[in-house]
Amino acid sequence: MIKVKKRKILLLPGDGIGPEVIREVRKIITWFNDNKSLDFEIDQELIGGCSYDKHGTPITDEVFYKALESEVIMLGAVGGPTWDSLEFSKKPERALLKLRKELKLFANLRPAICFEQLVDASTLKPEIVSGLDIMIVRELTGGIYFGEPRGIKPIENGERKGINTHTYTTSEIKRVARVAFDLARKRSNKVTSSEKSNVMEAGQLWREEVQELHNKEYKDVELSHMLADNCAMQLLRNPKQFDVIVTDNLFGDMLSDQASMLTGSLGLLPSASLGAKNKDGEMRAMYEPIHGSAPDIAGKGIANPIASILSFAMALRYSLDLDKEADILEKAVQDVLNDSLRTKDIMSDSMKEISTSAMGDAIISKLQ
Ligand code: IPM
Ligand code: MG
Repeated sequence: MIKVKKRKILLLPGDGIGPEVIREVRKIITWFNDNKSLDFEIDQELIGGCSYDKHGTPITDEVFYKALESEVIMLGAVGGPTWDSLEFSKKPERALLKLRKELKLFANLRPAICFEQLVDASTLKPEIVSGLDIMIVRELTGGIYFGEPRGIKPIENGERKGINTHTYTTSEIKRVARVAFDLARKRSNKVTSSEKSNVMEAGQLWREEVQELHNKEYKDVELSHMLADNCAMQLLRNPKQFDVIVTDNLFGDMLSDQASMLTGSLGLLPSASLGAKNKDGEMRAMYEPIHGSAPDIAGKGIANPIASILSFAMALRYSLDLDKEADILEKAVQDVLNDSLRTKDIMSDSMKEISTSAMGDAIISKLQ
């Protein structure tokens, strides 16, 4: 088994705007090395479509092994229309899914926080989103994303059948629910578990196992169950009723995109994908912005690097045990927003529009 190398950070910029936003993260990491005497070892590799173009595969074995020995992986984004017609196993997204699955990154933390400076950027009324701070905990290595059997097969009459399988086991459900309960204890102590127990057996199991864990170990946390369709509706109706939402891989994919828009821009939201700690306390983890590769704006220098930079703040907090540094970095982002500096996606009247790299520089200047 490959061991995790302490303080080793692997940058995987990927496709589209990935390289632009990860370039700013690299500047930030270098700043911490130079100014806070931290000893992060930085490496950088290809992943996704750009890896396919060069090597014929979205992730090479070499990159995969580097990922295995890195304490932190900072991913940009993968995919884009160039690679849409590739066969399934070669698609850029497969690389991301392989990393999640093989590194056992089962807990995906997706915060949706509405910054006060950007309340007006949301499509919802200010009073609905102002002060919003929710955390979606998405199960990331199970469910219909990975269940077997899967595939497309010919059936009678020249028709074809597409198959995916939604499965969950007790331990898969409980380990992610545990993450949600533990997080809730440090926040507002409320967990909403979301599934479709009215239609799916795997959803019924989900509900029962979460409830059982709660009865046994987390009685102090307020737990409620909510069907996923209702949860989608409630997120728009009254998002501030939520603290931590725990849900499966597919519902988590959808609910987190939905929640992110409450905050005004996809360009602001970080995420963390965490594995279990081993007996030496080591944990594998990957951090990435919620936004995708945004090929329409790639290469123009207008992408917002804040989601990636805040993802690095999450890495400082969750992987590197550097809470104080995480605070400093998050504060620097707030300060820049207070200075009315904006990238194009969050631009509004009387603000000053700046480029991706100028945003990175502005955040660094606030760190000083
Ligand atoms: C996400 C993305 C991915 C997913 C894609 C790129 C495979 O939408 O991280 O939410 O579906 O999980
Ligand atoms: Mg998604």
